[in-house]
Amino acid sequence: MTKIERLGVVGGGQMGGGIAEVGARAGLDVIVCEVSDEAARAGRTRLWKSLNRAVQNGKLTEAERDAAQARLHFTTTLADLDDRNMVIEAIAEDEELKTKLFAELDKVVSDPDAILASNTSSIPIAKLAGATSRPQQVLGVHFFNPVPVLKLVELVPSLLTSEETVERAAVFATEQLGKETIRAVDRSGFIVNALLVPYLLSAIRMVEGGFASAEDVDKGMVLGCAHPMGPLRLSDLVGLDTLKAIADSMYEEYGDPNYAAPPLLRRMVDAGLKGKKSGKGFYDYS
Ligand code: CAA
Repeated sequence: MTKIERLGVVGGGQMGGGIAEVGARAGLDVIVCEVSDEAARAGRTRLWKSLNRAVQNGKLTEAERDAAQARLHFTTTLADLDDRNMVIEAIAEDEELKTKLFAELDKVVSDPDAILASNTSSIPIAKLAGATSRPQQVLGVHFFNPVPVLKLVELVPSLLTSEETVERAAVFATEQLGKETIRAVDRSGFIVNALLVPYLLSAIRMVEGGFASAEDVDKGMVLGCAHPMGPLRLSDLVGLDTLKAIADSMYEEYGDPNYAAPPLLRRMVDAGLKGKKSGKGFYDYS
């Protein structure tokens, strides 16, 4: 089974940047494709900061950081991904944008064995696969934020994904990146978000209804259940726009009101309060 040597990542935000970082740290040559020079610069700055933090924490030597940086390249031209063995899409959680991107990737990536993967949390893999001429090589490879810290990758084959593709992706995630995998079927939210999202939305409803402050809800779950962070701070970390998009996809899939984004979440996104990445959400990060 041929290993992945050249990885492409589309989208250099917190998820794409994290995936690119773990790939480069694992010795892969990585190209990150962004929509603009400005976005590529911002992605690079975030990534360099994260690598420097790993050096400060003693997780990486300076030489390893320099080598990882040398393996990381940034572009705004999708065609630069032509020689990749695997491309992982990590753009906004928007079905139309993702479907269009998969159709373009199918044209651009010349390796007939290349895997085209999506980091989506909730959009059907079958729809993305259907935009390509190689649905057997398309699957969901879903990482968790912060990617360099959290060990899990959900592997999500669609009804058309070949077993060989799933096995190659599993080897990539475990042997190459040092992650652990679980396998889910192609239904919105897969395993983790199917459980996590209703919990986060319930916490938002609790604050919206005036039952408790965000601080007390979070303190309750951190000190009462030993979670590493409470649900409102975690919603801020995920990104409130991303959480809303995931909730919308899951609501569309199941029609279950537990998945419906509460009005407070919608209004916060409308107001540009997207959580940690925008500087303000349930908490202030400025
Ligand atoms: N990148 C790299 N390393 C990071 C990091 C980042 N963004 N954030 C924290 N770290 C590292 C720190 O450097 C630190 O490393 P050391 O132990 O070597 O010092 C370690 O993680 C712990 O960090 P801190 O001491 O700063 O803070 P903490 O102990 O509060 O941990 C946390 C921070 C790792 C984010 C932890 O609170 C946590 O795991 N929270 C839960 C996160 C979670 O549930 N994520 C899943 C979100 S859902 C998702 O991603 C999927 C989706 O589709 C929505």
